[in-house]
Amino acid sequence: MSLSLKDIQKPVANEMNEFEKKFRSSMKSKVMLLDKITGYIVRRKGKQMRPLFVFLSAGATGNISEATYRGASLIELLHTASLVHDDVVDDSNMRRGFFSINALWKNKIAVLVGDFLLAKGMLLSMENDDIDLLRITTEPVKEMSEGELLQMAKSKTLDITEDVYYQVIRQKTASLIKSCCKVGASSAGADDETIEKMGEFGLAVGMAFQIKDDLFDYGTFEIGKPRGIDIKEKKITLPLIHALSNASKLERRRIKKLIKRADKKPKLVHDVIDFVQASGGIEYAISVMEDYHQKAKDLLNTLPESNYRSSLEDLVQFTIERTK
Ligand code: IPE
Ligand code: IPE
Ligand code: MG
Ligand code: MG
Repeated sequence: MSLSLKDIQKPVANEMNEFEKKFRSSMKSKVMLLDKITGYIVRRKGKQMRPLFVFLSAGATGNISEATYRGASLIELLHTASLVHDDVVDDSNMRRGFFSINALWKNKIAVLVGDFLLAKGMLLSMENDDIDLLRITTEPVKEMSEGELLQMAKSKTLDITEDVYYQVIRQKTASLIKSCCKVGASSAGADDETIEKMGEFGLAVGMAFQIKDDLFDYGTFEIGKPRGIDIKEKKITLPLIHALSNASKLERRRIKKLIKRADKKPKLVHDVIDFVQASGGIEYAISVMEDYHQKAKDLLNTLPESNYRSSLEDLVQFTIERTK
């Protein structure tokens, strides 16, 4: 891949450095166990794409301010909380190439740590009267829970349609990325119209982001978290939805049977993956992802030219080309 996050970060490299320190201190606690766990979390940091979206959106639409830093910390805290909880929900033992919190400290502790991070994010904003930032970020917190629950309901019945899939990924992933771009613009003093536009941009990128993530489950990249786990957990994503919708009734019944038994017999996951690959499900998901990519690019092009804007463009490209 040609694009690296390090290159994309360039216009806000100093800000991202400064952010990391602030982010680390935003998790501090006097409770030793918590400090140990949050220390573990910051040492195994992720790609930090969301803070990058915040800073670049701020730079592209106004002036990066102290509120931009707090917005970036708030969002990364919410994101981290959602991952800690997600690994409990998905019964996943690996995150960012290491053991997940639930794998090391058990579910009970992971649930409480997730809540702690969420509360720390809200506190940070409260203490600074960042009411605008709170207004933008409270919605995605609700949406993330709804999206995860909707997905769970659908994995019971295996009858998810393409439209419901889009609702799930909009709620569980795209809504937070949308808020990254709005928080950036809002903290930089942009007008309401621009803030809304950045929200639309973030939404489109977020949809592409999750479709890409769902494609990893069918791929061969070493991504630092388990693969094939979606099917095992009966999580039906776009490649499979499309493949099923093109299959005969008989074939559909056969595949659904495989999915139902996949958690007991891991070999069946491969049969489902083979079916999806043979029926063009992967290509279809890629084409939808590219449509969202194009939509995001078109929105970006309505912003004034700047090195922030070109980095945002690269970040969108990275979103669909990334290998982890
Ligand atoms: C993972 O997000 C959760 C999803 C929405 C798929 P990231 O891939 O951005 O996670 P980290 O922070 O880099 O680990
Ligand atoms: C992403 O969900 C987590 C949230 C958006 C809360 P997934 O379960 O699809 O993501 P990964 O693959 O575990 O990161
Ligand atoms: Mg999940
Ligand atoms: Mg998961």
